[in-house]
Amino acid sequence: MEHEIRRWEHNYRALSARHRALLAHLPAKAAAARRAVQQNQMFIKALLMEFAGLDEEDEQQQQQQQQQQQQQQQQQGGCVGAGAAGGSSDEEGGAAGGGSGGVPGDLAAGALRSANQMEAEQQQCGPADAEKVRYVLKNLVRDWSAEGALERQQCYARLVAALKQCFQGWSQPQPPRVLLPGAGLGRLCAEVAAAGFEAQGNEFSYFMLLTASFLLNSTSCSEQWTVHPWVHMTCNNVTNEDQLRAVGVPDVVPSSLVPPGMLSMCAGDFVEVYSRPDMAGSFDAVVTCFFIDTAHNILEYLEVIHKVLRAGGFWLHMGPLLWHWADGSPDELSVELSLADVQQAALLTGFRLLSQEFVDAAYIANVRSMYKTVYQAAFWTMQKTEQQLPQDLNELVQMLALQRQQQQQQQQPPSPQTVPLTDPRRAENQQPEQQQQRPEQQQQRPEQQQQQKQQQGQPDGLQ
Ligand SMILES: C[S@@+](CC[C@H](N)C(=O)[O-])C[C@H]1O[C@@H](n2cnc3c(N)ncnc32)[C@H](O)[C@@H]1O
Repeated sequence: MEHEIRRWEHNYRALSARHRALLAHLPAKAAAARRAVQQNQMFIKALLMEFAGLDEEDEQQQQQQQQQQQQQQQQQGGCVGAGAAGGSSDEEGGAAGGGSGGVPGDLAAGALRSANQMEAEQQQCGPADAEKVRYVLKNLVRDWSAEGALERQQCYARLVAALKQCFQGWSQPQPPRVLLPGAGLGRLCAEVAAAGFEAQGNEFSYFMLLTASFLLNSTSCSEQWTVHPWVHMTCNNVTNEDQLRAVGVPDVVPSSLVPPGMLSMCAGDFVEVYSRPDMAGSFDAVVTCFFIDTAHNILEYLEVIHKVLRAGGFWLHMGPLLWHWADGSPDELSVELSLADVQQAALLTGFRLLSQEFVDAAYIANVRSMYKTVYQAAFWTMQKTEQQLPQDLNELVQMLALQRQQQQQQQQPPSPQTVPLTDPRRAENQQPEQQQQRPEQQQQRPEQQQQQKQQQGQPDGLQ
C-alpha cells in the first residue's frame, strides 16, 4: 500500500503550483491514509502473533515425529513417509480439525511461515498477496462488522431461516450436522451453530482460515480491532472520509454466539477432503453461500455435496455464478454452466428441488461507494433423493437417453420429483430478456469486471 500512497503523492507533486494550491488538503489525506494502513498492519501483526506459539510447537512436534519415524525405520528396516509435514489430507487440516473455529496447528504454522517470509520480503510483496489481504479486510466488513449487517441479512439470515425450516420436526438427541464449504471468515458457520446446529466450516485459504480462527478464538470484546478496509479504493468515493473510514470488528464477540462444541473448521480443498469414503453420509445438511462458482468442475462439487449428505439430507444454496476460473490459464479446467444447467445436473446427480427463488444479494460491497454490485443470487433448497446414478458408463448413457426420450414425450423436466423451474426475472412488467442486463453488467468497463472478480475471489485460489 505504501507504494500506492507514494503514487498519489507523486501525482500530486506533478501538478502545477496553482493546481496544488487548489488541492492543498491532499498531503494531509496521504498522511491519514498512512496511519490507516498502519492500523491495518497492526491488526495483521496481532493475528500473526496469535499463531506464533503454534509455529514453535509445530516445529517441536515435527522434530519428535521425525525422531519417532527414524526409530521405527531403524527397528523395522522399512520405508516411511517423507517427514512429518509431508502430505496426507489429515495433515492439510483434515476433517477433525479444531474446536470452536480452531485451525489445526500445522496449517497455522505453515501460514505463519509464509507470512513471516512475506514480511521479510515486504518490499517485494507481490500484487497477488496484497490483493488477498485487501480481500480479507473486505470480508471482515461482510462477516464481522455492523456495516456488513445488510449483506448478512440478505444471505446468512435467509439461509439460517431456511435451515431451521428444514429441521422443524427434528427429534434426534444430537443436533443436525451441517457442512459449510467455502466458509470464508466463519460468520455464517457461527450463525448456524448459534441456531442450534452442529456446524463444520471448510475453507482452503490460509488468509481466510487464520483470520477466522483469530476472530473466533481470540476476541474478548466487540469492536476490539479497527481496520480501514477501503483505504486502497480510490474510485467512486463520495468523500475522503468514506475512503479512510475506520470499521470496528467484530460487531459481536463470537464466543457469545457459538455454544461450546458446536463449531469446527476443517482446512483443505473441499473436493479433496469430503470425497474421502469416510465422509459419505456424514452430514444432515450442506449450506453453500457464494461458493459453488469456485469449482473447476461443478459436477464434481455436486457429486461431493450429494455424497456427504445422508439420504433425505438438505442442500441449501445462495449465490451467483461468477465462475472463478473462467479467466484462468488455459491449463486450468473451468466448466462454466448456466444456472439451468447446474440445476439440471443437480437433479440428475440425485437431488430434488424443494424451493428456489432469486434474491438481491451483495458481496463485500462498499456501502458508501458510488459503485455497487448487487447480484440476483439463486437461493434454493434441494433434498437428496434415493436415486443413484449408475457407476457404469454405458448404463448411465442409456439411462440419460431414456430420460431424454421421456422428457420429449411428456415435455416435462426429467424426473417425476422435479418441481418446474420458474425464472422470477420473467415476472410481469419486465423487459424482454435480450434487453436485460445483470446488475453487475450494467455500465461496466473491462477493468471493473476484473476488479469485481478480484473482490469475489481469486482465480489463483487465495491459497
Ligand atoms: C466467494 S467466497 C465466499 C465466502 C463465504 N461463504 C461468504 O459468503 O462470505 C468463497 C470462499 O470459498 C473458498 N474456497 C474456494 N475454493 C475452495 C475449495 N476448493 N475448498 C475450500 N474452500 C474454497 C475461498 O477461499 C473463499 O473463502
